[in-house]
Amino acid sequence: MDSSVAYVVCSMSDIPSQKARGFQLMRVEEDGTKRPWSIIVVRWGRQVFGYVNKCPHDGVNLDWERNQFLDPNGIRLMCGKHGALFELGTGQCVDGPCKGRALMPVALSVLDGDICVTGVTLVEDEEALPDEQDA
Ligand code: FES
Repeated sequence: MDSSVAYVVCSMSDIPSQKARGFQLMRVEEDGTKRPWSIIVVRWGRQVFGYVNKCPHDGVNLDWERNQFLDPNGIRLMCGKHGALFELGTGQCVDGPCKGRALMPVALSVLDGDICVTGVTLVEDEEALPDEQDA
């Protein structure tokens, strides 16, 4: 299994600065099983931060409305279920029921203007679809 592959998730220009967006990917586990993998990509200027879309409190997706990840001030990630607040750059929970815990980081890199996931194996024949269709 080659974990040095970089998988393009979207273009840097697809996410405005100081915004976050969710993506549904399909991950291949070490035993070969495929599993849906929901991640959050945060862009801040030229920096990008990735986290697994799973609240450390109750294990739910953070976005109570699809792609609504930020608090009303737009400076922290917020869980829609009980309002836990997370630092954008570290994923650390700074307020709420899981204070002191953190979102699981996802390794990202920017290659030729594309935001890529590294360090995992993804199912390649499925395109990384922006998580924006209505359920
Ligand atoms: S599930 Fe996220 S704060 Fe409770």
